[in-house]
Amino acid sequence: MVKNIAIDGPAGAGKSTIARKLARKLGFRYLDSGAMYRAVTWQALKQEIKLDDERTLVSLAEGMEIVFLPPAEDGISPLLVGGQDITKEIRQPIIDQNVSLVAKVKGVREAMVRQQRKMASTGNIVIDGRDIGTRVLPEADLKLYITASLEERSKRRYQEQLFKNPLVNYQEIKNKIIRRDKIDCEREFSPLVKDQDAILIDTSNLPIEEVINKIMQLIKDGEHND
Ligand code: DC
Repeated sequence: MVKNIAIDGPAGAGKSTIARKLARKLGFRYLDSGAMYRAVTWQALKQEIKLDDERTLVSLAEGMEIVFLPPAEDGISPLLVGGQDITKEIRQPIIDQNVSLVAKVKGVREAMVRQQRKMASTGNIVIDGRDIGTRVLPEADLKLYITASLEERSKRRYQEQLFKNPLVNYQEIKNKIIRRDKIDCEREFSPLVKDQDAILIDTSNLPIEEVINKIMQLIKDGEHND
């Protein structure tokens, strides 16, 4: 029986939408590990901590209590820090631009990984991120690496942001994705890589529903082989 599913991949590949739908279908919880790095970044910016001050960032991350509430009607789990709901705040462009710098700090990662493993310990969970199959849950029952071409990922982020800001610039969004990919893939600690056991799914030309069907089939096949 599949009890935990690890999903990794770059920004804009469709991981969180897929993870959320999959969790709902299976009756599992969904943990958005990227939201936790975003929460640390939000708190650091709020306290005006310099993002190259690693010691202060680590003690901030170690002392932070990050709480996810059960999903609201839109399927998104509100995220609380110190009792404050910061679900919307962590999606602001200022967080997008800075989160990779916080997520590359070793001690910050260690603090987050500890909390993620604790949340996953009771099973029946889908977690998405960059290091779930390689570090957080190396024994996961099913590991997926979800990706899409740079063009397609940039196009998706552009469409998403166009809703909020009609003046948004495609090339700027693409450049920001290139920069984030570079930091996430080249950092020293737990860089984004495909785990050797992970099944690669390229969503460039695949609608979400087809991706979900494919994963459900993988789960079924896995159960036959148990
Ligand atoms: O998935 P996201 O865009 O919300 O992730 C935000 C940032 O956090 C991203 O730049 C990479 C980092 N991250 C990470 O390093 N490890 C994870 N498990 C999840 C996210």
